Amino acid sequence: MGNTLRRIGKNPPQSISLRQLMSKEIDLERRKYIVTGCSSGYGLALTKLLTSLNGHVIGTVRTMEKGKLTFDTVYEHLEKTQPKKPGLFETMELELTSLDSVRNFSQEYTAKHSNLHALVNNAGIGLLPEFKKTQDGFEETYQVNLLSPYYLTAQLVPLLKRGVRDYNQASKILFISSKIHHYPRDENFLLEKLWNEPKEYQPNKQYAYSKLASILVMLEMAERLESSNIMVNALDPVGSLSLNTNFHRYSEEDAKQNLMSFLRRFKQITSPDKAAYYALNILANPDYEDTTGEYFTRMNVRLPSRLANNEDLCIDMLDQTEYCIYTALKNKQQQNH
Ligand SMILES: NC(=O)c1ccc[n+]([C@@H]2O[C@H](COP(=O)([O-])OP(=O)(O)OC[C@H]3O[C@@H](n4cnc5c(N)ncnc54)[C@H](OP(=O)(O)O)[C@@H]3O)[C@@H](O)[C@H]2O)c1
Repeated sequence: MGNTLRRIGKNPPQSISLRQLMSKEIDLERRKYIVTGCSSGYGLALTKLLTSLNGHVIGTVRTMEKGKLTFDTVYEHLEKTQPKKPGLFETMELELTSLDSVRNFSQEYTAKHSNLHALVNNAGIGLLPEFKKTQDGFEETYQVNLLSPYYLTAQLVPLLKRGVRDYNQASKILFISSKIHHYPRDENFLLEKLWNEPKEYQPNKQYAYSKLASILVMLEMAERLESSNIMVNALDPVGSLSLNTNFHRYSEEDAKQNLMSFLRRFKQITSPDKAAYYALNILANPDYEDTTGEYFTRMNVRLPSRLANNEDLCIDMLDQTEYCIYTALKNKQQQNH
């Protein structure tokens, strides 16, 4: 693996404060935003915020039952807050443990909508107590956090390109990431083993590698999509343990409490509502219109992990991601014949 230093980000923006952002009059003019995993946590908070600013949000849910609940919650919020210009909200089904579901979602979306302004790859899982394989044959954390979001993104690129043309503005792809991606230090981390049968399954490690992998893919996509005027970035919203997200659904209560006091001590806790503004900053702040290939922590651009500086690793990761997806699809096709 080479050691080429990667040029990260083309237009590093000036930071603004949360208060400055909140005081801006932002009108999303019914542009279309897909937010994956809108039923709880950051996804739900971002959906509420975007719809309250006249955005048209297509939120993904795993079941239509959850869709109905989320729909009621979002409209209740709009009624209560009475924004000047409420936008639109609809839900569509998407199960990221299944590539078929991703393809069905993309086809259904394309049949219904002619373009897309932004895709927020928010849905994610971590800390699964045990090694678990999806129906496509991949370790679940990897498929939900990396393979399926990449497949979804690739399927939606044509619509994002139409968004550029129709809105006469750059389209956006945002990956919700995590500080935990700094944890892996080993460059030769043999992805395929982690995707398939890791020798020794460790929940933390698996989550950290999946988030690092998604940053590497984000950086390479930013390079490849720059000429199409599609801006690709990642955001670490900073942990919000037990503050209205279900992320730690698999953790024991004791472990949660310990982590909570640790995070408090290091001021690593954010509410989902604040995190929604951090995402809005990247998606809709005009100062960040041309920002691509950046990793944000809260409102600021930060350097991602040292491993993300390795251009070869970024290219390799994207190639391997594509290879895994297309091999799985091909195998399925052959089985069905
Ligand atoms: N919370 C934190 O401390 C923290 C810190 C840094 C980064 N993050 C990242 O923030 C993102 C959002 O997490 P969150 O804290 O808001 O957690 P959350 O409340 O658990 O929300 C996750 C969302 O993803 C959906 N989802 C989970 N598995 C899915 C699957 N297989 N297919 C489709 N959708 C699926 C969930 O749907 P269901 O309701 O149906 O399960 C839910 O809507 C994740 O990418 C996470 O890695 C979280």
